[in-house]
Amino acid sequence: MSSDDFSIRVEGLSKRYEIYARPVDRLKQMILPRVQRGLHWPARAWFSEFWALHDVSFNVRKGETVGIVGRNGSGKSTLLQMICGTLTPTLGTVAVNGRVAALLELGAGFNPEFTGRENVRLSGLLYGLSEQELKARFDAILDFAEIGEFIDQPVKTYSSGMYVRLAFAVAINVSPDVLVLDEALSVGDEAFQRKCFARIDQIRASGATVLFVSHAAGTVIELCNRALLLDRGELLTEGSPKHVVSRYQKLLYSPVDKHESIREHIKAGKETDALEAGTGPPAPIAAGAADNGSGKRWDASSFEEGLIPKSTFRYDSSGASIFDPHIETLDGRRVNILQPQCEYVYAYRVRFEWTASNVRCGMLIRTVTGLELAGCITSWRGESLPDVEAGSELEVRFLFPCLFASGAYFLNAGVQGSFGEENVYLDRWIDGAMFKVIHEPGRLATTTMDLDIKPAIRVVNREAA
Ligand SMILES: Nc1ncnc2c1ncn2[C@@H]1O[C@H](COP(=O)(O)OP(=O)(O)OP(=O)(O)O)[C@@H](O)[C@H]1O
Ligand SMILES: [Mg+2]
Repeated sequence: MSSDDFSIRVEGLSKRYEIYARPVDRLKQMILPRVQRGLHWPARAWFSEFWALHDVSFNVRKGETVGIVGRNGSGKSTLLQMICGTLTPTLGTVAVNGRVAALLELGAGFNPEFTGRENVRLSGLLYGLSEQELKARFDAILDFAEIGEFIDQPVKTYSSGMYVRLAFAVAINVSPDVLVLDEALSVGDEAFQRKCFARIDQIRASGATVLFVSHAAGTVIELCNRALLLDRGELLTEGSPKHVVSRYQKLLYSPVDKHESIREHIKAGKETDALEAGTGPPAPIAAGAADNGSGKRWDASSFEEGLIPKSTFRYDSSGASIFDPHIETLDGRRVNILQPQCEYVYAYRVRFEWTASNVRCGMLIRTVTGLELAGCITSWRGESLPDVEAGSELEVRFLFPCLFASGAYFLNAGVQGSFGEENVYLDRWIDGAMFKVIHEPGRLATTTMDLDIKPAIRVVNREAA
């Protein structure tokens, strides 16, 4: 990389924190080493060391958009702060080429006592804008922030959303060469987020470098040329966003006792998980091999033990209980990482403690944000429904095509029945199971559903063209 070509150069970057068990230890650490030195006693420390970042090196070229992913506490914000110069490295170096505008986790460094207007001015000057440049951009900043009259109120009166809006508006209007964003876009409503993304696109198009931390896998894959995976302060891997995000998710959803071995595999570059297997060209189908009926096998489907919803909610059951909601391939393998356009079975069992009549079971698939995408019931009210004896167990199976775009989805399960006149829910699980759909290159679907829509375009006014 020529010296003009680089945007960010990070070498052997480490950050060590001193952790004190008690406040008095901090005091001792301030005073006693001097005394010890004076008396030629062996030095003793009253803190334990914690390396929030350890020997991280990477380069970013001008114009790249790089995503940083990693679990909570993995060192992402620490790294960004050192790149922006708001935190001093313990070891290693950072070099940045050009003007850096940042939106960091702990705010934009606004003075809470000053008004929004005053803070915009101060930040602008800090970013190196002249008074004249500031004047010219002030309206654009106000316009973008959409905080109206609050601009003349002290920043301490702002909601966190307003604060971020203003900080973002400043950061993107100072013509940065490098824009650094720490989860900034998770604040604000969707419309505002959309506006931010559009502005980031413009900034990228102008040749600036963007470095951003995000927990949203889709955003990283969509926006970035490259991604880095940090874990416990170490740079585990870097590369294409898909490569990095698949490893990040593997780490995120794996059971705790497997973390260590998965980390080592990722570091050694040995990881070839189902997520990546699914991104290659479809495997040829061997004669007689089981397929899902559409000529496509579930080769890339797999089971991640840790992929369990954190939002499972179970209503009080009465007379029957649902258990073991899960997904299977048509040849009976349990999976929760699914391939688009393959068929699967969502299955659960119901144990009846009481005899119930008019039994009907249902399912529902929802997105992360709770949007209800598809549902099914075993029969309509009024149709003749089975009676189920106390002590029996019911197996319920819903065959469904995976017509979803890549992402995470959640499954509900419910069983209704009557003990007398009234038809009631006997048991009901919200988010009882979840699955992820892998991204397959070449698929053209956007947003949530992948209905295998076939596009066609052609030039019709050839002469005019
Ligand atoms: N001032 C500090 N003193 C001691 N430890 C700190 C300090 N600041 C951060 N840490 C620790 O350093 C580690 C990395 O923190 P950092 O904020 O960089 O994580 P992160 O990857 O940004 O996490 P998140 O996804 O939650 O934002 C954490 O374990 C955190 O507790
Ligand atoms: Mg952080």
